[in-house]
Amino acid sequence: MKENIILIGFMGSGKTTVGQKIAGELGFTFLDTDEMIVKKAGMEITDIFETQGEAAFRKMEVDLLKELNATVTHAVISTGGGLPLREENASLLKKLGLVNYLKVTKEVVLERLKGDMTRPLLAGENVEEKVERLLSSRDSIYQSVCHMQINAEIGTPDQVAERVISGYKKNIL
Ligand code: S3P
Repeated sequence: MKENIILIGFMGSGKTTVGQKIAGELGFTFLDTDEMIVKKAGMEITDIFETQGEAAFRKMEVDLLKELNATVTHAVISTGGGLPLREENASLLKKLGLVNYLKVTKEVVLERLKGDMTRPLLAGENVEEKVERLLSSRDSIYQSVCHMQINAEIGTPDQVAERVISGYKKNIL
């Protein structure tokens, strides 16, 4: 396993906020797969979904994960919520670093993403139903892909970051 910290979990689980804190604390580089894809594609995620479809976006995620495996160490990598779903990504993630699942409940997701327009999978009507359906189908996948599961609803982002860091330190010793 490479010396990176990876954060997986549902939209709104705090991967970016917590990831930036961990990176600052450890002096690691912070990377965000969504942001990297937006830069490479030259368009926003909603536009990628609209013009090229979700499958094209998922392919970009796999390609990026392979690239990161070949190039990155001492980084904290925040991943898009659907990235762990592809079977081939599970082993790529585990090789890339210590995979932490930031677990949250439907209520917290709904509260944090109220009014959000940037997530195509939650656009339109019946957001609560969509979150419920996606969360329940993904939870077991996130669990099987991670090395560590963190309850991301207990404590401040700083405290969640500290829990990830202490797990990481134990694992690299
Ligand atoms: C997605 C989550 C998003 C982004 C895309 C699809 C998903 O990332 O990759 O909208 O399938 O859960 P965040 O988890 O960072 O919101």
